[in-house]
Amino acid sequence: MIRIGMVGAGGIAQSHADAIKQNTDCILTAVADINAERAREMAEVAGASWFTDYKDMDCTAFDAVILNLPHHLHCEVSVYFLERGVHVLCEKPMANTLAECDRMIEAAKSAGKHLAIGHVQRYYTAAKEIKAIIESKKYGDLTMITESRCKDYLKNRPKWFLDKRTAGGGIAMNLGAHSLDRILYTTRLAVEEVHALTANPITDDNVELNAQILLRLSGGVSATVSLCGTHVPQEEHETVYYFTDGIVKMQGDQLLVFEDGAFVSRGGEHPLIESQLTEFLKLLRGEKSEICTPEYGREIIRILERIV
Ligand SMILES: NC(=O)c1ccc[n+]([C@@H]2O[C@H](COP(=O)([O-])OP(=O)(O)OC[C@H]3O[C@@H](n4cnc5c(N)ncnc54)[C@H](O)[C@@H]3O)[C@@H](O)[C@H]2O)c1
Repeated sequence: MIRIGMVGAGGIAQSHADAIKQNTDCILTAVADINAERAREMAEVAGASWFTDYKDMDCTAFDAVILNLPHHLHCEVSVYFLERGVHVLCEKPMANTLAECDRMIEAAKSAGKHLAIGHVQRYYTAAKEIKAIIESKKYGDLTMITESRCKDYLKNRPKWFLDKRTAGGGIAMNLGAHSLDRILYTTRLAVEEVHALTANPITDDNVELNAQILLRLSGGVSATVSLCGTHVPQEEHETVYYFTDGIVKMQGDQLLVFEDGAFVSRGGEHPLIESQLTEFLKLLRGEKSEICTPEYGREIIRILERIV
């Protein structure tokens, strides 16, 4: 039984707690959040202990921690636990800067402990299928990708996401990290060139709400990522992959393939956080795991540093 601690009991943390509860190979033993009510509520359901300062946690009470924190804390808290012999699964994006990523990687190496990053696109059934389609060359060579996502970025958004010091950036740093993950995971191509325009046309917050990104990928493939976070009434997310002999889309979690003159949905289920936990536990047991490595997480930050 692998014992897990959790730091940060906010929005995404509940999905991690639910995944731990459903998984018979692990147990939640401790929770920390500066918000006592959140820490207590999450811990009590699991019979775990709870804290308002992660430095008060007994590091012998868990084998690994999952960090669900504002981005500027990812490095500091990861390094803290790695240095105390605890494996870390840190939510995406890995950190706010490349220098922080390097400190995290170094701390994991020095401690001989695992550090994994919570990039989840690889757990979408549709993303796996698109990756297989690209590899098989079923529709010829991949030539271009367009990714577009719109969402009211301000709605129910915790304040720290809207401050560059704590979030590292706005929609590009947060949702753009998922877009880049999707492109890199499905294509396995290198990003050779990055151009971007970012803007915040509606608030005084010092982070971008809109971003348009142009990427040159290896093999002559190009990609665009358009993110709109202003008060759009309808959330949408679509990635289109253009091949020399075909076209494939991912809409939400759905895979759409163009066949006999029309797009056909192939459906798709996506137990993302559950799948990620399973892969994390495999990593901890020394088994082959698909979980995101820190080197991959660092590559996403390398690209984001040129955008935000
Ligand atoms: N994988 C995904 O699809 C996904 C989805 C949402 C969020 N995220 C990522 O998860 C992370 C957390 O995002 P969220 O939406 O849960 O944010 P959130 O604001 O809802 O939760 C963050 C929690 O951290 C706590 N916290 C702040 N400082 C702390 C400290 N020093 N010690 C302990 N706790 C502290 C806050 O009180 C809050 O409860 C971010 O990295 C975000 O990008 C990932």
